[in-house]
Amino acid sequence: MIIIIIAGFHPMSSTFTPSTSVPLQATTDAAEATVAPSAPAGGGQVHRPRRLRRTGTLRRMVRETVLTAADLIYPLFVMEGEGQKEAVPSMPNCFRYSLDLLLEEAKAVWELGIGAIALFPLISHHLKDNAGTESYNPEGLIPRAVRALKQALPDLLVITDVALDPYSSEGHDGIVQNGHILNDETVAVLAKQALVQAEAGADFVAPSDMMDGRVREIRQALDAEGWINVGILAYSAKYASAYYGPFRDALDSAPKFGDKKTYQMDAANAREAIKEVELDIKEGADIVMVKPALAYLDVICRIKQHTNLPVAAYNVSGEYAMVKAAAQQGWIDEKAVMLETLTSMKRAGADLILTYFAKDAALALRP
Ligand code: PBG
Repeated sequence: MIIIIIAGFHPMSSTFTPSTSVPLQATTDAAEATVAPSAPAGGGQVHRPRRLRRTGTLRRMVRETVLTAADLIYPLFVMEGEGQKEAVPSMPNCFRYSLDLLLEEAKAVWELGIGAIALFPLISHHLKDNAGTESYNPEGLIPRAVRALKQALPDLLVITDVALDPYSSEGHDGIVQNGHILNDETVAVLAKQALVQAEAGADFVAPSDMMDGRVREIRQALDAEGWINVGILAYSAKYASAYYGPFRDALDSAPKFGDKKTYQMDAANAREAIKEVELDIKEGADIVMVKPALAYLDVICRIKQHTNLPVAAYNVSGEYAMVKAAAQQGWIDEKAVMLETLTSMKRAGADLILTYFAKDAALALRP
C-alpha cells in the first residue's frame, strides 16, 4: 500500500515533512483515495465530519439528495405553423415550436429520460377574447398538440395548463369585469378547458390560475365525463411574482392592465400557502405545486412537511433567465449553478421540478 503524504506532520517523527513526490496543490483522486495519517489526535477532537467528505466515492455514498432526470418536467411552448422554431430572447435556448417540431423536441426529451412535458400555447391575437373562448375549442392548438404527442409518444406524460391568460385579450387568468377578475364565472370556463384537454389525451391538467374552488369544479367535470384517471397537478401556492416576466414574453401574455395580485399570492405569506394546499387537497388535487421555486424554498419545505402528496416546484422563467444571463457574461459556471439550484429544490422537498433546464440537467446527470 502506498501512503502519500501531501503535507503534514509525519506520524513517526512528528516533524513537518513536505512531500517530495506530490506537488502541494494536488488534490487528485489518487491523493483523496488514500487515508493520509496525521498527527496523533489530541485536544479532544472526537467529531470529524470531514471524514465523510474525504473522497468522491464516500461523498456519493452519504449524499442525502440525488437529482435524477425522472424528477424533471420540461415546459414547452407551442405555436401554429409548420417547420417553425422561434427563439425566446429572454430565455436563451428556449423556443416556441410549431407542432411538427414540437414532436421532434418531445422525442429528444423522452430519450433523455425525462418523463413529462408541460405545454403552454402561443395564441394568435385574433383568437383572444375576454372570456378566453378559444381555451375550450376542441380543435384548438393545445388539444391538437396533445393528440399528436400522445399518438407519437404514448408513454411521455403530457401536462396541460389550465388558465385563461394565453387566450385572454386582457392577459389575465380570468374573465375581467370593470377591472375585476371574476372568480366563479372563470372557474366554469376552466372546467370546460380541462375537459377538452382530457378528451384530447392529457395525462394531467394543471390549473395555474389561482381562482378559488377551481380544483373541485375541474375534478367534478372530469369525473362526470368518465375521466377519472386524468390527474390534477394543482398550482396551489402560486405567488404574484416578478419572476414570470420572460414567460409572459414567450407567450405574449402580459396583463394589459394592473397585476395579478388579487388572485396570485402575496410573496410575504407562507402560512397562507398551507391553507391553499389544504384546500386543493380537499378539492381533489393529486400533486400540489409551489411556484416560483428558488425564492420560496421555505414554502416548499413547509408544504412537504404538511402533506403526503407529491410536491412539485416550478423553477420559473425568471430564475432560468438569471442563471443564463450571468453565465453568458462568464460570471458563473452555468452547469454547476444549474445543478446546485435544482438540487436545492429537491432538498427543500420537491419531488418534481418543472424547469427549462430539464434537458441540460438530464444530459449533465447522465452516468
Ligand atoms: C399563467 C402562468 C404563468 C406561468 C405559468 N403559467 C405566468 C403568470 O402567472 O403570469 C409562469 C411560468 C414561468 O415564469 O416560467 N397561468
